[in-house]
Amino acid sequence: MTSYVSVSDLIRREAPGNPLLCFSPGSIKKRVEQFLAHFPGETGWAVKSNPHPLVVRAVVDAGIRTFDVASRHEIDLILRHCPSATLHFNHPVKAPEDIVYAWHSAAIRSFAIDCPEELEKIDAVLDGAGDTARRDTVLTIRFRNTRPTGTGNYCFDEKFGAHASKAVDLLRFADSLGYRTGLTFHPGSQNRDPESYATLIDLARSIAAESFAQGTAALAHINVGGGFPCSYPGGLEPALKIYLAAIGKAASSIACPLICEPGRAMVAESANLLARINLRRKDDPRLYINEGIYGSFMETPFVDFQPPVQAYSADGTPFPEAGPCDDFQIWGATCDSLDRLRKPVSLPSAIATGDFIEFGMMGAYTNATATRFNGIEPAELIAVTEITSWPTGTTTATQSHCE
Ligand SMILES: Cc1ncc(COP(=O)(O)O)c(C=O)c1O
Repeated sequence: MTSYVSVSDLIRREAPGNPLLCFSPGSIKKRVEQFLAHFPGETGWAVKSNPHPLVVRAVVDAGIRTFDVASRHEIDLILRHCPSATLHFNHPVKAPEDIVYAWHSAAIRSFAIDCPEELEKIDAVLDGAGDTARRDTVLTIRFRNTRPTGTGNYCFDEKFGAHASKAVDLLRFADSLGYRTGLTFHPGSQNRDPESYATLIDLARSIAAESFAQGTAALAHINVGGGFPCSYPGGLEPALKIYLAAIGKAASSIACPLICEPGRAMVAESANLLARINLRRKDDPRLYINEGIYGSFMETPFVDFQPPVQAYSADGTPFPEAGPCDDFQIWGATCDSLDRLRKPVSLPSAIATGDFIEFGMMGAYTNATATRFNGIEPAELIAVTEITSWPTGTTTATQSHCE
């Protein structure tokens, strides 16, 4: 496979007409090391954030052996790369065929649920496997945030999660059938409030205490989900270590094992998107690029983030940091008018049709969610030894090109 030393090198050699996700695994190793050193429990990874084989390989090589999977396809993918992996099937609503496959063919023994009906689906699959089957299986109750916390940028509580009192009932139901039990939550993706983890761990503790008082066995684990943010330049997100410290403090008074399964925080910084400008209109702030919300920018309408940018001329020469800049509206590759970036992007005033823009921190929920709308192929992910990195939390995208 061809490899490129830098984004400039890639542009010079290929002048790519299609968008590319330039992948460099160094940041994954650093993130994994941070979690392994400071998360007070087992660190997993949510595969859905980027299931590209190069990314999966990098996560496994960095030492992760625990994975949150959402489908049969993700199960197979992980077992191909890491046959000894521990898999948690934490999608709260699973296809019945996937439950059969997970339990019987992939030996998965950990499933999330948030209602009795999903529990019954799983129990029907185990029916006939005997009492040991239930004792070997952990049903992890996903509960909803019912206490005020700072907001996660991208709230997950509307779709899934049992109310706290229903979570107690579910723990009792699962326990009465002979299952081991756990609790889990998702505090919202790109979550900006480290203390929300402490609040939710505390809520888990009180749900567990109430059910324990009613005779259930101790929990097998509490899974604190994902939600850890990526630190965009100029963003308001506290550093990862502050989240891990808040969790460490909250967890110091609970006896049960903890798991986390970050997606975005693990992989976002590992890939930058390289897009070409297909048109700059004269005397007009609109730039049309060969990528958009039906490709790598699918999250843009929902999540309030602004990727940092580096511009290149058509021959691969980076535009210098200092120099005159203008705010441009970035319009996507399809004919759809929704296909645009929400916020203007500051770029060199001289930027032209045929030039390139490298958008930083695009390794999560990009190729994973891209479509072929308008017959446009999703960005391919390729290895590039060195991609541009930005100092996090200190400068804005605007400042990256304008002093
Ligand atoms: C069950 C579960 N765990 C973990 C994650 C990862 O979340 P994030 O990328 O915000 O860390 C998700 C994301 O959808 C999820 O659904």
